[in-house]
Amino acid sequence: MSEGKKLRILLACEESQAVTKAFRDLGHEAFSCDLQESSGGYPEWHTQGDVTELLKQHWDIVIAFPPCTYMTNGGAVRMYPQKGVIDQERYKKAMEAKDFFMLFYNLDCKYVAIENPVPMTVIGLPKYDQIIQPYMFGEPFSKKTCLWLKGLPKLQPTEILTEYQPYINGGGGRLEKANYKGKTFANGSVKRSKFFQGVADAMAKQWSEFVLSGAVADFNKNFEPKTLFENEM
Ligand SMILES: C[S@@+](CC[C@H](N)C(=O)[O-])C[C@H]1O[C@@H](n2cnc3c(N)ncnc32)[C@H](O)[C@@H]1O
Repeated sequence: MSEGKKLRILLACEESQAVTKAFRDLGHEAFSCDLQESSGGYPEWHTQGDVTELLKQHWDIVIAFPPCTYMTNGGAVRMYPQKGVIDQERYKKAMEAKDFFMLFYNLDCKYVAIENPVPMTVIGLPKYDQIIQPYMFGEPFSKKTCLWLKGLPKLQPTEILTEYQPYINGGGGRLEKANYKGKTFANGSVKRSKFFQGVADAMAKQWSEFVLSGAVADFNKNFEPKTLFENEM
């Protein structure tokens, strides 16, 4: 691919258009798609509807933010209402969410990234490639986020902050808010799942430059954050 070429990028399950706009700022043809209407201010770059149809088109990069409600480790309390007893209805919904996730994982596209929180082991998702935190990208929050990457390199931190606070209650309701007195929390599922600008900018810059350079991802040479950040929320 030559320098200056515009990439065609699909941001699947992105109503906020945060990453869409970050790629557009760099001159690429990025499009968001979500069942919901876009809240990012650029409806002309957004398809409201099921993303499955769009996956049949050619895309240089596909980045997906599929629903995590029934798969996240943060929902373990609800998946296991009593110790050792699984909520079958919830498990069924989790398997549907997994099927949707796997559409992206198995997609016939050279460069794919999927973003989700740490999943429960029982869901059986493939192992993620990287864990990132917003505070590694200049955002003063912790929110453990997994990336599954195909063809793309791990994201390199852009600005590591040492002072930050938890963005959400990652314990599925068990954490006492009093433990975080004076700290702010994001409320509501839509706001909780909005994307951090610092991470969006890093994805757009690092991944578009990588694809345009024609490089081959060498995961061994990349920053390895799992060991540093694994234990944090
Ligand atoms: C966890 S949220 C991701 C939000 C994203 N981080 C953002 O900033 O907009 C998951 C999104 O997937 C969307 N979604 C679920 N099923 C979908 C489908 N079949 N096609 C397109 N979007 C879908 C939901 O409407 C929801 O907005």
